Amino acid sequence: MRVTAADLVDSVAEARLKVTAVRYKVESEVRNTAEKVRSRFSEAKVKLGDEARFIKSWIDNPLRTGSVTPSSPALARRMASFVDPELPGPVIEIGPGTGPVTEALIERGIAEERLILVEYSPEFCALLRERFPRATVVQGDAYALSTTLAGHLDEKAIALVSSLPLATRPPAVRAALAREAFPLLVEGAPFIQFTYSVISPVPRKGSGLKAFVSDWVLRNIPPARVWVYRQAR
Ligand SMILES: C[S@@+](CC[C@H](N)C(=O)[O-])C[C@H]1O[C@@H](n2cnc3c(N)ncnc32)[C@H](O)[C@@H]1O
Repeated sequence: MRVTAADLVDSVAEARLKVTAVRYKVESEVRNTAEKVRSRFSEAKVKLGDEARFIKSWIDNPLRTGSVTPSSPALARRMASFVDPELPGPVIEIGPGTGPVTEALIERGIAEERLILVEYSPEFCALLRERFPRATVVQGDAYALSTTLAGHLDEKAIALVSSLPLATRPPAVRAALAREAFPLLVEGAPFIQFTYSVISPVPRKGSGLKAFVSDWVLRNIPPARVWVYRQAR
């Protein structure tokens, strides 16, 4: 078979095209991998940053912080699962800390603008404002909820999600929190609270509340359960 100069030119051009295609594929795989590594790295940095912030907050005030580590995504998602995103209206979160439950609520379909976050720590409030710029962040005491929320709540909320360390407060204070919270919610709305304890964190006797408790969320340190309270009709 005779190979002409034109055949040679064609073969070289074809080989060049193949080399370019392979180089393009390799380069784009390298770029994708580098992007994934960068994003995992920055997620890990954020997570480590939040752990450090929590430990500092716990050292400054262990009873108020109530935990040495933020809630896991599994626990945060379980809490958020009790909020119906289809219902219109605000959602109140008390004790959002660095915002894992806030994130889960947004993931669940609650628009950031609908979130009213009540947090005592000014450092956590600054972080929440940075992370959730469209949410309303109120620095203040969640145990004086109606006073703290004065001027921030235009309509009744469809749910209240609490991560307050209730076990560090006497039962009467916890019962008073529930009594103060329900008038801020629409009828039938849930008061959602996680706890590491085996007993109901909100005292139920004489409260007129119906309660549901989840199974243990094991992917959290320590394992926790979620209680959902509603006013009995
Ligand atoms: C156990 S941490 C939970 C933080 C976050 N929601 C999470 O799940 O990782 C409790 C949070 O409640 C806040 N907190 C404690 N007492 C409070 C109060 N009286 N009013 C508002 N926030 C309070 C603490 O500053 C802290 O951020």
